[in-house]
Amino acid sequence: MHYHNLIADLFSNASGLPLVDVFELIEFPPQEDQGDRAIPVFRFSKERKKSPQDLAKEWAAAINSQKLPSEISKVEALGGYVNFYFDTPKFAQAITKEIFNNKSFGKIDQHDPETVIVEYSSPNIAKPFSIGHLRSTNIGASIARIMEYRGHNVIRINHLGDWGTQFGKLIVAYKKWGNEATLKNDPIQELFKLYVKFHDEEGKDPSLSNQAREAFTKLEQGDLEAKKLWDTFKQFTLDELSTLYKRLGVKFDHYWGESFYVEHMPKLLKLLETEGFSKHSEGATIVDLKEEGLGVALLQKGDESSLYLTRDLAAAIYRHEKFNFDQMIYVVGAEQRLHFQQLFKILDMIGHTWSKNCEHVAFGSISFGDEKMSTRKGNVVFLADVLQKAKDEALRIVNEKNSDLENKEEAAEKIALGAVLFADISAKRIKNVKFSWEEILSFDGETGPYLQYSLVRTKSLMNKFGKNVEMISDFSIFKEKEEHNLVRALSLFPIFLERAEREREPFVVGQYLINLTKSFNRFYNAHRILDGDAASINARMLLVKCTSDVLTQGLNLIGIPTLERM
Ligand code: ARG
Repeated sequence: MHYHNLIADLFSNASGLPLVDVFELIEFPPQEDQGDRAIPVFRFSKERKKSPQDLAKEWAAAINSQKLPSEISKVEALGGYVNFYFDTPKFAQAITKEIFNNKSFGKIDQHDPETVIVEYSSPNIAKPFSIGHLRSTNIGASIARIMEYRGHNVIRINHLGDWGTQFGKLIVAYKKWGNEATLKNDPIQELFKLYVKFHDEEGKDPSLSNQAREAFTKLEQGDLEAKKLWDTFKQFTLDELSTLYKRLGVKFDHYWGESFYVEHMPKLLKLLETEGFSKHSEGATIVDLKEEGLGVALLQKGDESSLYLTRDLAAAIYRHEKFNFDQMIYVVGAEQRLHFQQLFKILDMIGHTWSKNCEHVAFGSISFGDEKMSTRKGNVVFLADVLQKAKDEALRIVNEKNSDLENKEEAAEKIALGAVLFADISAKRIKNVKFSWEEILSFDGETGPYLQYSLVRTKSLMNKFGKNVEMISDFSIFKEKEEHNLVRALSLFPIFLERAEREREPFVVGQYLINLTKSFNRFYNAHRILDGDAASINARMLLVKCTSDVLTQGLNLIGIPTLERM
């Protein structure tokens, strides 16, 4: 951004620090009235043998003794910061032009894009797609969109849990208690019921465990009947998942489930053994990582050809061979931290130095009222049920607030998604999230519907305006504090996108949009936008349109549907 060049120049001249270093330092003050950008000087205090306050004063004075460019109206020391205030008309001109002329403000065209794999969602077939899986799906899809917007070449992978001993259990349960008609009708629920029933019955009849183990061994050995059942379970589940992903607006480049890597297993296990990384212990194959503080990693149990970790090793190696990625991000719950530490460590041990480019992007649990979610016991909250409940509530609110809205159903669906998806990223991902219906559906809290509603407000202003918003030529019309602060908020979008990428936090985009919306609503409440002379109306409508565009773009990035009316 042009403004950052100006600031860096001034500051570098005053302090003698190299231009590139100064660039990295530029921040923005948390309070709007403390200026538009700031440079902290704390880290130089020691070498210059001055307090940060004195240093900031000295450099601010040195800057003020230069001729300030017309874009910058004031430079001031405050505490350990040098604060920069921008001239309102010039600032408004620069930012609105950038947004107006550019379909995707903040989007980056990299000359040499990085290849980034984002692995997310990855539910287990035969276990339900619970609200817990929503987190991986929503956070992962948002990270993927943000990284793509920032110019990376993103590959989206769904690492379906389509292999493992649970399939032995399912095969046994299905043959005993299931049938195809029921399965076809409601596959995810039915497979889940069978799974739960298996565990209930196993308590009474322990021989079931052996039967299940045998069934899985058969499946691994390619037994036709077992394979056919597995295929059916998988196909039915995939059909249902694809409906769900469509509803959430989420897509993948590859559905490479765990089974996809099974054929690579023997070679990998052999390599680990001949190179001396793994050893046998009590009938299992392990890698001892105790010295690394990572315990013992289990690669193979007696009668199974592979385990979760082994399949992940094969998957990482396969993906690296295929894509030679620069970064690989696994969006998976925090409870799997040790698993990923072991995975990356073993990759590194066997010489894959690229394991340092692999990252476990963890998130906390999600709780819903008092119910804890556990697949085994069956008291699990299904995402579909949550969305239905959100939709019923949204419909009730829409009926109350705007009973002659057309397509109420469609609006309610979008508001429900907005509420649930935003709630999921309303805190840093590592935090545990707790839902409260009233809170997440409120139109004026820090919620998805609040953002959607504010966007609708910009759209209805543009409708009332009745013609296309045009670029203006005289920016001296912008004098008000609320106008300045809205421009300031708009200008921060690229900065927050950079932060969201760096921290892998869609939350950062969500909070940015809340703040942008607050600035917009302060502007809206302080000024009668469509009253006054034509020049003032046109100018203010330009701000409305820019807000509308940035809000739309931001909501798209975090997967929240937009509405024309609500
Ligand atoms: N299917 C697993 C689960 O639901 C998540 C898979 C995560 N990805 C991975 N590469 N291990 O717990």
